[in-house]
Amino acid sequence: MKNLETSYMGISLKNPIILGASELSSEVESLKKAEQAGAAAIVYKTLFEEQIQLEDLQFDELKEEYNDIHAEMTSLHPDIDRSEIEYYLVKIRNAKENLSVPMIASLNAVNDSSWFRYARLIEETGVDGIELNLYQTPTRFDLDAAEIEKRQIDMVTEVKKQLSIPVSVKLSADYTNILHFAKRLDEAGVDAMVLFNSFFQPDINIEKETHKRAFNFSKKGDYKKSLRIAGMLYGRVNASICGSRGVFDSEDMIKLILSGATCIQTVSAVYKNGVKQITEMVRGLEEWMERKGYDSIEQFRGKLSDSVLNKNDNLLVYKRAQYVDLLLHSDTIFGNMQHRGF
Ligand SMILES: Cc1cc2nc3c(=O)[nH]c(=O)nc-3n(C[C@H](O)[C@H](O)[C@H](O)COP(=O)(O)O)c2cc1C
Repeated sequence: MKNLETSYMGISLKNPIILGASELSSEVESLKKAEQAGAAAIVYKTLFEEQIQLEDLQFDELKEEYNDIHAEMTSLHPDIDRSEIEYYLVKIRNAKENLSVPMIASLNAVNDSSWFRYARLIEETGVDGIELNLYQTPTRFDLDAAEIEKRQIDMVTEVKKQLSIPVSVKLSADYTNILHFAKRLDEAGVDAMVLFNSFFQPDINIEKETHKRAFNFSKKGDYKKSLRIAGMLYGRVNASICGSRGVFDSEDMIKLILSGATCIQTVSAVYKNGVKQITEMVRGLEEWMERKGYDSIEQFRGKLSDSVLNKNDNLLVYKRAQYVDLLLHSDTIFGNMQHRGF
């Protein structure tokens, strides 16, 4: 039996597989199934401030309606006598109490004051850590990138100051220079970075000429940008790196660890294959380590990172965009194509 232990944001994990935030990570029953399948930690479904605002609005409207009907009825009606945030806190506390693996909460707020308020409330539930979901889609033409980044850094710095549990940030892959932003986050003291989130993108049904809603599942191979950035950050930031997006099997996970990640988060693979995929990933990792003669994760983590490769004078692998690499190695790649009759 191999030692698969790793450390993520200062939390000890029995193996590198974390079930990421989604609908799958909101009900105790599914969380327990993931735990039994071998998940080393869970990120509970995100508390979105926008959702609370919406629910509060609906709640106020509902209250008005009831007020009109009967002034006393609001306090008697069980379904509306609670706010969305309290509901979430109860659920998260309940989930934490029912799990034996570490549980990380996830938060996305809009206003600075809400980030701080909700983060403190979440901390009181007893979760092991909090993941700040820096989700932001461009909706304004008058806000430049530097301003957006400054706000995020200021917010993270303040949350980190106010909490005593470990704080991670889940990042979008769309920053102009993710390395610079990651360095600033590291200086702000974040305990971990999750590379990367993937966002819902609108789509259109051309027959009905309407927008359509769809889950935004990843595809096999989508881990590659995470691999590139994990490979660049290893050895250069103090925060742990968690590989995410398109991690479907043990092979994807091993690649991310070789590039420097301490662990991975997976969601789409579990939607597609069920929690048994987590068991498969644990088994695949053990088998590979056995075959390669590794006894622990630390023996091979970061072996193929930029900082380690630099020491061996292999300078270009993370720095070239692929088409340049193809030209540089045209002898081997185009040679192979000629064999196939191109
Ligand atoms: C149906 C669904 C719901 C999700 N809900 C959340 C969420 O509440 N919070 C969050 O940070 N990410 C959420 N995500 C994003 C995932 O946590 C994850 O970052 C993304 O799907 C990439 O990982 P994957 O390739 O393993 O799916 C969701 C993804 C899906 C498919």
